Amino acid sequence: MYVCICNNVTEKDIERAVLNGACSMLCLRDHLGLSSKCGQCHGAARECLDSFLQLGLDEELVSR
Ligand code: FES
Repeated sequence: MYVCICNNVTEKDIERAVLNGACSMLCLRDHLGLSSKCGQCHGAARECLDSFLQLGLDEELVSR
């Protein structure tokens, strides 16, 4: 599903960026252009980022 229509960024793109080390909206903006034009995607992108970061944290805790 598209999160940012202006830059053609999907949830999968955000997940991939998080797996490659992205951990902030600034980082996603720099690497994917997320929220760099109209800004309408900011809230959804933030939720998406937070959920992928939480998933990564949960997996890290389970693997300990
Ligand atoms: S929808 Fe993301 S900048 Fe416009």
